[in-house]
Amino acid sequence: MAKKRAHLLGFVQHGVNSHATGMWRHPKDKINWDWSRPAYWQHMARTMERGMFDAMFIADELAPYNNYEGSSDATVKYAVQCPVHEPSTVVPIITTATTHLGVGVTLSTAFEHPYSMVRRLSSLDHLSEGRIAWNIVSSYSKSEWDAYGAEMTKRSGRYERMEEYMELCYKLWNSWEPDAIVANRATGVFADPAKVHEVNHEGEYFRCKARSFVFRSPQGYPVLWQAGSSDRGRDFAAKHAEAIFAVHPNVERMREYTDDLDFRLEKRFNRKPGSVKRIYGVQTVVGLTRSEAQEKYERIQQCIPLEGAMAWISGHFGPDFSKYDPEEHVQNIEIPGIQGLFDSIIYAKGGAPVTVREAALIYAEGMGMPRVVGTPADIADQLEYFMDEGGADGFMFAATYTPGCFEEFVDLVVPELQRRGRLRTRYSGTTLRENLLEF
Ligand SMILES: Cc1cc2nc3c(=O)[nH]c(=O)nc-3n(C[C@H](O)[C@H](O)[C@H](O)COP(=O)(O)O)c2cc1C
Repeated sequence: MAKKRAHLLGFVQHGVNSHATGMWRHPKDKINWDWSRPAYWQHMARTMERGMFDAMFIADELAPYNNYEGSSDATVKYAVQCPVHEPSTVVPIITTATTHLGVGVTLSTAFEHPYSMVRRLSSLDHLSEGRIAWNIVSSYSKSEWDAYGAEMTKRSGRYERMEEYMELCYKLWNSWEPDAIVANRATGVFADPAKVHEVNHEGEYFRCKARSFVFRSPQGYPVLWQAGSSDRGRDFAAKHAEAIFAVHPNVERMREYTDDLDFRLEKRFNRKPGSVKRIYGVQTVVGLTRSEAQEKYERIQQCIPLEGAMAWISGHFGPDFSKYDPEEHVQNIEIPGIQGLFDSIIYAKGGAPVTVREAALIYAEGMGMPRVVGTPADIADQLEYFMDEGGADGFMFAATYTPGCFEEFVDLVVPELQRRGRLRTRYSGTTLRENLLEF
């Protein structure tokens, strides 16, 4: 049987620091690069395209976390995913610097009407010639709701609303039939109104009476991406998503998730098992020798400020962790935030108890992702193992120092994966969907 090839994505934010807390202070971080200027994004994009990545994936949240010690002081002080600029603004910079690389952009449904969401995403799909994915989120953090002056809704209510959100998005994406534009200069008819359907939506959460303002984009609609992991979240993914992003600290948990998603696809939504790409988070630290890689890893760990780490787990999971004894076990704590990521730290030590302090420090290294430290061959071995035993279709690589971590991966690990037949050597599709669904 042919070996499965990996899809690769670079996981970043449009900010000073992504998912490894304190990395902005690493001596190799952004040497001569300014993350708030186009040249940095162009270089990151070209690096990932050189490494045959499917896409750069831009995570987002809408406001600084504000619940550690009841404020956003520690978030601001330690650059805990802060500052973060608007994610869709960098998309055209990335796609004009590249030819094949896609961009996954995280945009929240919480405070934006589906009409403008569709307009923005379809415009980006046009401008990128079909290289956009949308990571559909609904704003899990109270700080986001505070920033928009709204009362935070419950998880179940957010998913209910999101179902209707998607229903309206699909209607708008289908508003213009593929052959609606005739552009006949002689008659002066540009588009056939019979093929541009007005959407009439009167739902529980949204109303809309309009034709879409954007004609059908190259992909029709962006690749739909999702990262929910609660029971409702997994059903939402099984119903709508073409790719999911999940974090599991070991291969057993990956396998469990893979099987669960396949079950939902087949039994609940009449879709083929394996038809949703399972992209699992991984963080790599590569060296020419194991000891070099280990030294690099230790240097990275030294950048993490404990208080910043505590602010981050408070932000992602909901409770104010300053109120807990650092030696308390996280297994005993109920959280309203991102359950899927909390699970990644609960199981970080293979099920053995994890204290609050340990949880914060583990999480701050790279959002609870399994870490692979070693030579290019060690890393390729581990990625193959995650694919063959865990069911991974590909990997979302959490950044450490940038752009260096991606340069090193592309220079050292990519050729090793290609040699093993585990990574494409050229792009065969023209759109992101074609490349992602190709194998
Ligand atoms: C791996 C992973 C990455 C996520 N990235 C984001 C993100 O960038 N922005 C965001 O608002 N939510 C993000 N989320 C949150 C989810 O999209 C979802 O809203 C949240 O997990 C709550 O849903 P759930 O209870 O079904 O897990 C992420 C979740 C996971 C598991």
